[in-house]
Amino acid sequence: MEFPDTILNLLIFLIPAYISNSLPVLLGGGMPLDLNAKFYDGERILGDGKTIRGFLGGVFAGAFFGGLLSLVIDLPFYRSPMDHFIGGFLLSLGTMTGDSIGSFIKRRMKMNSGKAFFLDTVFFLIVALIFVIPAVRQSVLFTPFNIAFCLVLTAILHPVTNWIANRAGLKKVPW
Ligand code: CTP
Ligand code: MG
Repeated sequence: MEFPDTILNLLIFLIPAYISNSLPVLLGGGMPLDLNAKFYDGERILGDGKTIRGFLGGVFAGAFFGGLLSLVIDLPFYRSPMDHFIGGFLLSLGTMTGDSIGSFIKRRMKMNSGKAFFLDTVFFLIVALIFVIPAVRQSVLFTPFNIAFCLVLTAILHPVTNWIANRAGLKKVPW
């Protein structure tokens, strides 16, 4: 029974990325990450949705929970608890960086309130998976099944959690 184990491991592996992706909606606010600056095209670089507090809070929260997990759980994707610890941080940093890159691209495409499915849902995870490369056993983590599972799960979970955040009054738009 390899599959159920793999799925459970992947769910645990992804926790830092999901935490850092969802906490900014609670922790965010204050000075925008782009310091209100505009790009050459006259649009905001990132926009009001990306704040310094949200970025740092997201990275810290994800890395914190990743660090806790590394103390109690042994995942096959990491060689050691130390790699797991660093991996949690890299997943969180990659998540928040990917989230900001997504907003940068959206602003360039003048999508100020419009939704961009790919950029809004799975893009952050792709960047997080690239960031985590130095910390993982690549041949164990990056199997076609694992990659597909992570992307599909995120494509489903992200819209669902955003819809809930919107309904709960935490987020202005449901995406
Ligand atoms: N947030 C934040 N700082 C970040 C990321 C998110 O403060 N670095 C907060 C903002 O309040 C934001 C909310 O979390 O409105 C939801 O994040 P997200 O959906 O990524 O931002 P959007 O407001 O939809 O902006 P964008 O169009 O740029 O995605
Ligand atoms: Mg958004």
